[in-house]
Amino acid sequence: MKRYSVLDFKSAKGQQKITLLTAYDYTMAKLLDQSGIDAILVGDSLGMVLQGFNNTLSVTMDHMVYHTASVVRGTQHAMVISDMPFMSYHLSPREAVANAGRLIQEGGANAVKLEGGRDILPQIKGILKAQIPVMGHLGLTPQSINQLGGFKVQGRLPKEAREILHDAQLLESAGVFAIVLEGIPENLAHLISQELHIPTIGIGASVHCDGQILVSHDMLGMYGECSPKFVKRYAHLGEMIQTAVKNYVDDVHQQIFPETVHTYKGQKEALDTSELEV
Ligand code: KIV
Repeated sequence: MKRYSVLDFKSAKGQQKITLLTAYDYTMAKLLDQSGIDAILVGDSLGMVLQGFNNTLSVTMDHMVYHTASVVRGTQHAMVISDMPFMSYHLSPREAVANAGRLIQEGGANAVKLEGGRDILPQIKGILKAQIPVMGHLGLTPQSINQLGGFKVQGRLPKEAREILHDAQLLESAGVFAIVLEGIPENLAHLISQELHIPTIGIGASVHCDGQILVSHDMLGMYGECSPKFVKRYAHLGEMIQTAVKNYVDDVHQQIFPETVHTYKGQKEALDTSELEV
């Protein structure tokens, strides 16, 4: 099957909602891919979900390359988009292009995602010049958590809303193929989605976006630390895993596992230990 691409993002606008989830490893990527997801984001949310930090700031380029390569090996159909981590694109356009290049060349990603608007336009333009597709990310941008004062909904005030809309227009003019809108009010997400010709991908940004993304560990009920209002739990895998592990522990204690069916048989002669040195 053909891999989902930037062209599919473009033609989906106004026709079909685009579906994205995060993945950080081969097994999860393969499950998502085989379930018909359009695109997988190797998000720097891995800093929280996999590494146990309370924000994404400690994630490095090496982490992203490693996890991107694992996800790519698990996919055939889904487009793979890799997050550029904190400080991998802030210093200069040159460094941004080099780091984006690593995610494509070493990780095998099909595109990269950067957080921010007007401040990082030179970086975005440089990456696009290197023929690397870029996805934007506006609104609640977790890499700016210290400046935003926490994980807070953005764009509630008219001035903030106008700035986010203007940033979205600037990113579109620069040539990004889609923009993630995170944690913004419904009316602003609606307006931006109407104004732009490229798809908006919402997370906590209402049904009016052209597609949706969630952190897969959140929607599968595997990551309990925080559950934002916008997360819908489609499964409770955390509870299922705990029940399974408790059953395993009980079975081992009670010698119910392993059973005969899990056990290898040897030839009788092999048990002749007379020749073995003690
Ligand atoms: O890092 C991430 O997973 C993200 C999504 C939540 C959009 O940026």
